[in-house]
Amino acid sequence: MIKQEIRIERTSSPKSKPDQSSLGFGKYFTDHMFVMEYSPDKGWHDPKIVPYAPLQLDPSSMVFHYGQAVFEGLKAYKVDDGRILLFRPSKNMERLNISNERLCIPPIDVEFGVEAIKTLVKVDADWIPSEEGTSLYIRPFIISTDPYLGVKPSSTYKFIIILSPVGAYYPEGINPVKIYVEDKYVRAVVGGLGYAKTPANYAASLKAQVDAMKKGYTQVLWLDGIEKKYIEEVGTMNVFFKINGEVYTPALSGSILPGVTRDSTIELLKSWNIKVHEDKISIQQIYDAHAEGTLEEAFGTGTAAVISPIGELDWAGNKITINNGETGGLAKRIYDYITGIQYGKVKDEFGWTVEVK
Ligand code: COI
Repeated sequence: MIKQEIRIERTSSPKSKPDQSSLGFGKYFTDHMFVMEYSPDKGWHDPKIVPYAPLQLDPSSMVFHYGQAVFEGLKAYKVDDGRILLFRPSKNMERLNISNERLCIPPIDVEFGVEAIKTLVKVDADWIPSEEGTSLYIRPFIISTDPYLGVKPSSTYKFIIILSPVGAYYPEGINPVKIYVEDKYVRAVVGGLGYAKTPANYAASLKAQVDAMKKGYTQVLWLDGIEKKYIEEVGTMNVFFKINGEVYTPALSGSILPGVTRDSTIELLKSWNIKVHEDKISIQQIYDAHAEGTLEEAFGTGTAAVISPIGELDWAGNKITINNGETGGLAKRIYDYITGIQYGKVKDEFGWTVEVK
Protein backbone atom coordinates (compact mmCIF):
# COMPACT_ATOMS: atom_id res chain seq x y z
CA MET A 1 0.00 0.00 0.00
CA ILE A 2 1.22 3.51 -0.83
CA LYS A 3 2.10 5.39 2.35
CA GLN A 4 -0.75 7.76 3.03
CA GLU A 5 -0.30 10.99 4.93
CA ILE A 6 -2.61 11.30 7.94
CA ARG A 7 -3.96 14.84 8.10
CA ILE A 8 -4.37 16.15 11.65
CA GLU A 9 -6.94 18.77 12.65
CA ARG A 10 -6.69 19.51 16.36
CA THR A 11 -9.64 20.50 18.51
CA SER A 12 -9.89 24.11 19.60
CA SER A 13 -11.96 23.15 22.65
CA PRO A 14 -10.33 20.27 24.59
CA LYS A 15 -12.64 18.54 27.07
CA SER A 16 -11.92 18.22 30.76
CA LYS A 17 -10.61 14.78 31.72
CA PRO A 18 -12.53 12.37 33.93
CA ASP A 19 -11.46 11.41 37.44
CA GLN A 20 -9.10 8.43 37.07
CA SER A 21 -10.46 6.65 40.11
CA SER A 22 -13.95 6.21 38.63
CA LEU A 23 -13.37 5.59 34.94
CA GLY A 24 -15.31 2.34 34.63
CA PHE A 25 -15.28 1.06 31.07
CA GLY A 26 -16.07 2.88 27.82
CA LYS A 27 -17.88 5.90 29.26
CA TYR A 28 -15.49 8.70 28.31
CA PHE A 29 -13.99 9.58 24.95
CA THR A 30 -10.93 11.62 24.09
CA ASP A 31 -10.66 14.83 22.07
CA HIS A 32 -9.93 13.29 18.67
CA MET A 33 -10.84 10.42 16.37
CA PHE A 34 -9.34 8.88 13.26
CA VAL A 35 -11.52 8.62 10.14
CA MET A 36 -10.77 7.13 6.73
CA GLU A 37 -13.07 6.48 3.77
CA TYR A 38 -13.40 3.66 1.28
CA SER A 39 -14.84 3.88 -2.18
CA PRO A 40 -14.39 1.43 -5.06
CA ASP A 41 -12.57 3.97 -7.24
CA LYS A 42 -10.17 5.32 -4.58
CA GLY A 43 -9.83 2.35 -2.23
CA TRP A 44 -9.10 3.33 1.40
CA HIS A 45 -8.29 7.04 1.25
CA ASP A 46 -8.30 10.42 3.00
CA PRO A 47 -7.03 9.33 6.45
CA LYS A 48 -7.46 12.09 8.98
CA ILE A 49 -7.54 12.83 12.68
CA VAL A 50 -10.28 15.27 13.55
CA PRO A 51 -11.97 16.55 16.72
CA TYR A 52 -14.16 13.83 18.31
CA ALA A 53 -17.73 14.55 17.22
CA PRO A 54 -20.97 12.83 16.20
CA LEU A 55 -20.95 11.38 12.69
CA GLN A 56 -23.35 12.53 10.05
CA LEU A 57 -24.76 9.50 8.26
CA ASP A 58 -27.66 8.95 5.92
CA PRO A 59 -30.43 7.06 7.77
CA SER A 60 -30.36 4.56 4.91
CA SER A 61 -26.66 3.77 5.55
CA MET A 62 -26.42 0.01 5.23
CA VAL A 63 -24.80 -0.50 8.62
CA PHE A 64 -28.04 0.52 10.36
CA HIS A 65 -30.07 -2.07 8.51
CA TYR A 66 -27.94 -5.12 7.90
CA GLY A 67 -25.14 -4.75 10.43
CA GLN A 68 -22.25 -5.00 8.01
CA ALA A 69 -19.59 -3.83 10.44
CA VAL A 70 -16.49 -5.06 12.27
CA PHE A 71 -14.47 -3.80 15.21
CA GLU A 72 -11.39 -4.34 17.34
CA GLY A 73 -10.27 -3.58 20.88
CA LEU A 74 -6.79 -3.00 22.25
CA LYS A 75 -5.15 -0.72 24.79
CA ALA A 76 -2.38 1.84 25.23
CA TYR A 77 -0.53 1.81 28.56
CA LYS A 78 1.41 4.56 30.29
CA VAL A 79 4.73 3.30 31.69
CA ASP A 80 6.19 4.92 34.84
CA ASP A 81 9.14 6.27 32.83
CA GLY A 82 6.70 8.12 30.51
CA ARG A 83 6.79 5.67 27.58
CA ILE A 84 3.51 4.62 25.93
CA LEU A 85 3.11 0.96 25.00
CA LEU A 86 0.66 -0.93 22.79
CA PHE A 87 0.17 -4.67 23.22
CA ARG A 88 0.46 -6.72 20.00
CA PRO A 89 -1.37 -4.14 17.82
CA SER A 90 -0.60 -6.02 14.58
CA LYS A 91 -2.54 -8.99 15.92
CA ASN A 92 -5.64 -6.83 16.21
CA MET A 93 -5.23 -5.41 12.73
CA GLU A 94 -4.71 -8.90 11.32
CA ARG A 95 -7.86 -10.08 13.07
CA LEU A 96 -9.73 -7.03 11.77
CA ASN A 97 -8.92 -8.28 8.28
CA ILE A 98 -10.15 -11.80 9.14
CA SER A 99 -13.41 -10.19 10.27
CA ASN A 100 -13.41 -7.99 7.15
CA GLU A 101 -13.09 -11.02 4.91
CA ARG A 102 -16.08 -12.70 6.59
CA LEU A 103 -18.21 -9.54 6.37
CA CYS A 104 -17.25 -8.73 2.74
CA ILE A 105 -15.44 -5.54 3.80
CA PRO A 106 -12.23 -4.52 1.97
CA PRO A 107 -9.05 -5.17 3.99
CA ILE A 108 -6.95 -2.50 5.67
CA ASP A 109 -3.17 -2.55 5.33
CA VAL A 110 -2.00 -3.93 8.71
CA GLU A 111 1.04 -1.66 8.98
CA PHE A 112 -1.02 1.40 8.07
CA GLY A 113 -3.68 0.46 10.61
CA VAL A 114 -1.05 0.27 13.36
CA GLU A 115 0.37 3.61 12.19
CA ALA A 116 -3.12 5.16 12.39
CA ILE A 117 -3.52 3.87 15.96
CA LYS A 118 -0.11 5.18 16.99
CA THR A 119 -0.73 8.61 15.42
CA LEU A 120 -4.10 8.99 17.17
CA VAL A 121 -2.72 7.80 20.53
CA LYS A 122 0.09 10.34 20.21
CA VAL A 123 -2.37 13.18 19.52
CA ASP A 124 -4.43 12.24 22.61
CA ALA A 125 -1.48 11.00 24.72
CA ASP A 126 -2.43 13.22 27.66
CA TRP A 127 -5.67 11.19 27.95
CA ILE A 128 -3.84 7.97 28.87
CA PRO A 129 -4.59 7.47 32.55
CA SER A 130 -1.73 6.49 34.85
CA GLU A 131 -3.43 5.07 37.95
CA GLU A 132 -2.92 1.36 38.51
CA GLY A 133 -5.26 -0.80 36.43
CA THR A 134 -6.18 2.00 34.03
CA SER A 135 -5.35 2.33 30.35
CA LEU A 136 -6.54 3.91 27.12
CA TYR A 137 -8.91 1.53 25.31
CA ILE A 138 -8.60 1.77 21.53
CA ARG A 139 -11.65 0.92 19.45
CA PRO A 140 -11.03 0.67 15.68
CA PHE A 141 -14.20 -0.13 13.69
CA ILE A 142 -15.53 -0.17 10.16
CA ILE A 143 -19.09 0.60 9.09
CA SER A 144 -20.84 0.20 5.75
CA THR A 145 -22.17 3.51 4.46
CA ASP A 146 -23.96 3.03 1.13
CA PRO A 147 -27.41 4.69 1.30
CA TYR A 148 -29.24 1.61 0.07
CA LEU A 149 -31.82 -0.85 1.37
CA GLY A 150 -31.16 -3.83 -0.89
CA VAL A 151 -29.25 -6.66 0.78
CA LYS A 152 -25.71 -6.76 -0.65
CA PRO A 153 -22.24 -5.75 0.50
CA SER A 154 -21.88 -1.97 0.66
CA SER A 155 -19.48 -0.34 -1.77
CA THR A 156 -18.46 2.47 0.60
CA TYR A 157 -17.16 2.29 4.18
CA LYS A 158 -15.72 4.35 6.99
CA PHE A 159 -12.81 3.13 9.12
CA ILE A 160 -12.89 4.98 12.44
CA ILE A 161 -10.78 4.79 15.59
CA ILE A 162 -11.95 6.21 18.91
CA LEU A 163 -10.21 6.19 22.29
CA SER A 164 -11.60 5.77 25.78
CA PRO A 165 -9.72 6.05 29.09
CA VAL A 166 -10.78 2.98 31.09
CA GLY A 167 -10.48 1.23 34.42
CA ALA A 168 -11.71 -2.30 35.16
CA TYR A 169 -14.22 -3.88 32.76
CA TYR A 170 -16.06 -5.77 35.49
CA PRO A 171 -16.57 -4.01 38.81
CA GLU A 172 -15.28 -7.30 40.31
CA GLY A 173 -11.84 -6.60 38.69
CA ILE A 174 -9.59 -9.62 39.24
CA ASN A 175 -12.09 -11.03 41.78
CA PRO A 176 -14.11 -14.05 40.60
CA VAL A 177 -17.44 -13.65 38.86
CA LYS A 178 -20.52 -15.90 39.03
CA ILE A 179 -21.40 -17.45 35.68
CA TYR A 180 -24.62 -18.99 34.38
CA VAL A 181 -24.20 -21.87 31.92
CA GLU A 182 -26.46 -20.82 29.05
CA ASP A 183 -28.59 -23.72 27.83
CA LYS A 184 -31.26 -21.83 25.89
CA TYR A 185 -29.58 -19.22 23.70
CA VAL A 186 -26.46 -19.70 21.59
CA ARG A 187 -23.85 -17.13 20.59
CA ALA A 188 -22.69 -18.58 17.28
CA VAL A 189 -22.46 -21.72 15.18
CA VAL A 190 -19.70 -23.08 12.98
CA GLY A 191 -20.23 -21.52 9.55
CA GLY A 192 -21.69 -18.40 11.13
CA LEU A 193 -19.91 -15.28 12.39
CA GLY A 194 -18.47 -16.55 15.68
CA TYR A 195 -14.79 -16.11 14.79
CA ALA A 196 -15.31 -12.57 13.49
CA LYS A 197 -15.39 -9.51 15.74
CA THR A 198 -18.64 -8.15 14.40
CA PRO A 199 -21.50 -6.42 16.24
CA ALA A 200 -23.99 -9.20 15.38
CA ASN A 201 -22.28 -11.61 17.78
CA TYR A 202 -22.62 -9.14 20.61
CA ALA A 203 -26.24 -8.35 19.73
CA ALA A 204 -26.95 -12.09 19.78
CA SER A 205 -25.47 -12.33 23.28
CA LEU A 206 -27.47 -9.60 24.99
CA LYS A 207 -30.65 -11.50 25.89
CA ALA A 208 -28.72 -14.27 27.63
CA GLN A 209 -26.64 -11.70 29.51
CA VAL A 210 -29.72 -9.78 30.66
CA ASP A 211 -31.47 -12.98 31.81
CA ALA A 212 -28.33 -14.18 33.63
CA MET A 213 -27.96 -10.83 35.39
CA LYS A 214 -31.60 -11.01 36.53
CA LYS A 215 -30.71 -14.34 38.14
CA GLY A 216 -27.74 -12.76 39.93
CA TYR A 217 -24.93 -13.80 37.57
CA THR A 218 -22.37 -11.52 35.93
CA GLN A 219 -22.25 -13.34 32.60
CA VAL A 220 -22.94 -16.61 30.82
CA LEU A 221 -20.84 -19.56 29.73
CA TRP A 222 -21.65 -20.23 26.08
CA LEU A 223 -22.13 -23.78 24.86
CA ASP A 224 -21.89 -24.89 21.21
CA GLY A 225 -24.86 -24.04 19.03
CA ILE A 226 -25.65 -27.58 17.88
CA GLU A 227 -25.45 -29.98 20.81
CA LYS A 228 -25.27 -27.41 23.65
CA LYS A 229 -22.64 -29.67 25.12
CA TYR A 230 -19.25 -28.16 24.37
CA ILE A 231 -17.89 -25.01 25.95
CA GLU A 232 -17.20 -22.04 23.66
CA GLU A 233 -16.66 -18.73 25.46
CA VAL A 234 -17.50 -16.95 28.69
CA GLY A 235 -19.39 -13.68 28.21
CA THR A 236 -17.26 -11.75 25.69
CA MET A 237 -14.08 -13.63 26.65
CA ASN A 238 -12.24 -16.84 25.84
CA VAL A 239 -12.30 -19.40 28.64
CA PHE A 240 -9.65 -21.56 30.35
CA PHE A 241 -9.85 -24.35 32.94
CA LYS A 242 -7.06 -25.74 35.11
CA ILE A 243 -7.60 -29.41 35.81
CA ASN A 244 -5.06 -31.53 37.65
CA GLY A 245 -2.23 -29.09 36.92
CA GLU A 246 -2.94 -28.88 33.17
CA VAL A 247 -4.83 -26.19 31.27
CA TYR A 248 -7.74 -26.71 28.88
CA THR A 249 -9.27 -24.19 26.50
CA PRO A 250 -11.75 -24.71 23.66
CA ALA A 251 -10.05 -25.12 20.27
CA LEU A 252 -10.71 -22.42 17.67
CA SER A 253 -13.45 -24.30 15.90
CA GLY A 254 -14.81 -21.44 13.79
CA SER A 255 -17.47 -20.27 16.22
CA ILE A 256 -14.99 -18.89 18.77
CA LEU A 257 -13.21 -15.53 18.66
CA PRO A 258 -9.41 -15.95 18.35
CA GLY A 259 -8.54 -13.71 21.28
CA VAL A 260 -5.20 -11.92 21.50
CA THR A 261 -5.14 -12.46 25.28
CA ARG A 262 -6.08 -16.12 24.66
CA ASP A 263 -3.08 -16.50 22.33
CA SER A 264 -0.77 -14.68 24.77
CA THR A 265 -1.99 -16.84 27.68
CA ILE A 266 -1.30 -20.05 25.75
CA GLU A 267 2.20 -18.88 24.76
CA LEU A 268 2.91 -17.86 28.34
CA LEU A 269 1.71 -21.16 29.82
CA LYS A 270 3.81 -23.12 27.34
CA SER A 271 6.86 -21.05 28.27
CA TRP A 272 6.18 -21.98 31.91
CA ASN A 273 6.08 -25.66 30.92
CA ILE A 274 2.39 -25.95 31.79
CA LYS A 275 0.60 -28.28 29.41
CA VAL A 276 -2.17 -26.59 27.41
CA HIS A 277 -4.88 -28.59 25.65
CA GLU A 278 -6.77 -26.76 22.89
CA ASP A 279 -9.61 -29.15 22.46
CA LYS A 280 -13.34 -29.82 22.55
CA ILE A 281 -14.33 -29.54 26.21
CA SER A 282 -17.78 -30.56 27.35
CA ILE A 283 -19.52 -28.89 30.27
CA GLN A 284 -20.00 -32.41 31.67
CA GLN A 285 -16.21 -32.85 31.72
CA ILE A 286 -15.88 -29.73 33.86
CA TYR A 287 -18.57 -30.90 36.28
CA ASP A 288 -16.95 -34.36 36.42
CA ALA A 289 -13.56 -32.80 37.18
CA HIS A 290 -15.21 -30.77 39.93
CA ALA A 291 -16.83 -33.90 41.37
CA GLU A 292 -13.46 -35.66 41.33
CA GLY A 293 -11.81 -32.68 43.01
CA THR A 294 -9.47 -31.97 40.07
CA LEU A 295 -11.05 -28.74 38.79
CA GLU A 296 -8.62 -26.21 40.23
CA GLU A 297 -9.39 -22.97 38.40
CA ALA A 298 -11.49 -21.42 35.66
CA PHE A 299 -11.02 -17.99 34.14
CA GLY A 300 -11.85 -15.84 31.12
CA THR A 301 -9.28 -13.98 29.03
CA GLY A 302 -9.89 -10.81 27.04
CA THR A 303 -8.40 -7.42 26.27
CA ALA A 304 -10.89 -5.49 28.36
CA ALA A 305 -10.66 -7.44 31.65
CA VAL A 306 -7.37 -9.31 30.87
CA ILE A 307 -8.14 -12.21 33.24
CA SER A 308 -11.51 -12.72 34.91
CA PRO A 309 -11.63 -15.67 37.31
CA ILE A 310 -14.83 -17.73 37.53
CA GLY A 311 -15.85 -18.41 41.11
CA GLU A 312 -19.14 -20.18 40.53
CA LEU A 313 -20.95 -22.00 37.71
CA ASP A 314 -24.66 -22.75 37.53
CA TRP A 315 -25.61 -25.40 34.96
CA ALA A 316 -29.37 -26.04 34.96
CA GLY A 317 -29.59 -25.33 38.67
CA ASN A 318 -26.55 -27.46 39.50
CA LYS A 319 -24.15 -25.02 41.15
CA ILE A 320 -20.46 -25.55 41.70
CA THR A 321 -17.94 -23.33 43.43
CA ILE A 322 -14.45 -23.21 41.94
CA ASN A 323 -11.35 -22.66 44.09
CA ASN A 324 -13.57 -21.64 47.03
CA GLY A 325 -14.80 -18.69 44.95
CA GLU A 326 -11.33 -17.17 45.17
CA THR A 327 -8.88 -15.95 42.54
CA GLY A 328 -6.63 -18.88 41.63
CA GLY A 329 -2.84 -18.80 41.73
CA LEU A 330 -2.48 -19.43 38.00
CA ALA A 331 -5.05 -16.79 37.02
CA LYS A 332 -3.22 -14.27 39.22
CA ARG A 333 0.18 -15.30 37.83
CA ILE A 334 -1.00 -14.82 34.22
CA TYR A 335 -2.71 -11.53 35.09
CA ASP A 336 0.41 -10.19 36.83
CA TYR A 337 2.68 -11.31 34.00
CA ILE A 338 0.61 -9.98 31.10
CA THR A 339 -0.22 -6.68 32.80
CA GLY A 340 3.43 -6.51 33.92
CA ILE A 341 4.53 -6.65 30.28
CA GLN A 342 1.80 -4.21 29.25
CA TYR A 343 2.82 -1.61 31.85
CA GLY A 344 6.54 -2.12 31.16
CA LYS A 345 7.20 -3.61 34.60
CA VAL A 346 8.08 -7.13 33.43
CA LYS A 347 10.73 -7.79 30.76
CA ASP A 348 8.92 -8.37 27.46
CA GLU A 349 10.64 -11.59 26.43
CA PHE A 350 8.03 -12.26 23.76
CA GLY A 351 8.43 -8.92 21.96
CA TRP A 352 4.73 -8.20 22.40
CA THR A 353 4.87 -4.50 23.18
CA VAL A 354 5.23 -1.72 20.65
CA GLU A 355 6.25 1.74 21.77
CA VAL A 356 4.33 4.79 20.56
CA LYS A 357 6.84 7.54 19.90
C1 COI B 1 -12.77 -8.01 25.48
O1 COI B 1 -11.86 -7.23 25.24
O2 COI B 1 -12.65 -8.91 26.28
C2 COI B 1 -14.04 -7.85 24.82
O3 COI B 1 -14.32 -8.51 23.86
C3 COI B 1 -14.99 -6.90 25.42
C4 COI B 1 -15.32 -5.77 24.55
C5 COI B 1 -16.31 -6.14 23.49
C6 COI B 1 -15.81 -4.64 25.39
